Amino acid sequence: MTFDVEKTRKDFPILSREIQGNNLTYLDNAASSQKPIDVLEGIKQFESNDYSNVHRGLHTLSVLSTSAYEESRKIVQKFLNAKSFEEIIFTSGGTDSVNLVASSYADEHLSKGDEIIITTMEHHANIVPWHFLRERKGVQIKWIDCDQNGKFDINQFEKAITSKTKLIAVTQMSNVLGASPDIKNIIDLSHSQGIPVLIDGCQGVVHEKIDVQDLDCDFYLFSGHKLYGPNGIGILYAKSQYLDRMRPWRGGGDMIKYVEKENITYNDAPNKFEAGTPNITGAVGLGMAINYFEKKIKEGLFDHELKISNYLHNQIKTVKGIVIYGEENIDSPIVTFNVEGQHPHDISTIIDNYGVAIRAGQHCCGPLMDLLGINASARASIAMYTNQQDIDNFIEALERSIALFK
Ligand SMILES: Cc1ncc(COP(=O)(O)O)c(C=O)c1O
Repeated sequence: MTFDVEKTRKDFPILSREIQGNNLTYLDNAASSQKPIDVLEGIKQFESNDYSNVHRGLHTLSVLSTSAYEESRKIVQKFLNAKSFEEIIFTSGGTDSVNLVASSYADEHLSKGDEIIITTMEHHANIVPWHFLRERKGVQIKWIDCDQNGKFDINQFEKAITSKTKLIAVTQMSNVLGASPDIKNIIDLSHSQGIPVLIDGCQGVVHEKIDVQDLDCDFYLFSGHKLYGPNGIGILYAKSQYLDRMRPWRGGGDMIKYVEKENITYNDAPNKFEAGTPNITGAVGLGMAINYFEKKIKEGLFDHELKISNYLHNQIKTVKGIVIYGEENIDSPIVTFNVEGQHPHDISTIIDNYGVAIRAGQHCCGPLMDLLGINASARASIAMYTNQQDIDNFIEALERSIALFK
């Protein structure tokens, strides 16, 4: 089946919006993607007809809301091929999911001197929570440096692992270099030493089909807003053997079975980790986004993305004065770059005048910026609705921005 990008674009109302008198060219998808009508309308319908609080009431609306919320958990379970729906926790996003693991698992099970291995190309979301543990408990962070293209050698992990290594936390896809480490290899190696692995799937889940049982990762997480869903919702998948041993990290309603004056009894997972009224609409909307996404995968989405990614890499290479970071990753949906003599913030601001949205800055990757020897860079990232015209608009705007500085 050939993927029909023009038909797909019609599902995203925002794409017909004008920016500064130009058609929108949206290439900031690695930050947040746009939502299809299925999600926008689905949310409206849900909120207009079925909304109430979940897990509490016995009235019709509460039952409908609870069933939509729990149905969405099952959609995520199926999507990730998790063994059970109890292994799927709704969080407020990828960052929240890492913090949950840091607070509920690592804080409880790691001690002073224990080591966590991460890579230099992690997003701050998969760095800062481990720094908290370093500060609070004296846990040591060990860094695996990637090369300029985001590549590692598995030997680097082998050498870094010691008897004190208690967790390895790695991104599935770098949000800067677009590189995708061989996470299966890392997981197999870690498990051979009895070490659990957390995979940050915030970027990867959008461009690759995931099977957490096949991967055998212990923790997997992603955000809804990068996967064509609402913001303020994310997922933590964790094997039940870990969830059973994890303390709840936030206290309140829904995460307890009994509360007495002197005692509390916690609920089982997943409720144990979802204190208070959750993001009900966000969770329901995420289920709708995943249904839409899976439909597009069946229509050949990934082949389309590969073609557009290759086109983007080939076109940007031709721009004079361009410096590409991770230039070997030509199949990647992300291109990060600088233009000699021009600040990335200026590029982003100037090309916005032509309706082109890209990201500029550090991309929440301080250690990687240091490794690359730069303060900032610009980033263009594609989504299912990106077509060749978008890439041509971007390149033309970029050329014009460069011409301004000559
Ligand atoms: C690789 C990666 N991990 C984690 C995050 C954090 O996601 P969120 O801001 O949705 O919590 C991002 C966001 O850009 C990311 O790209």
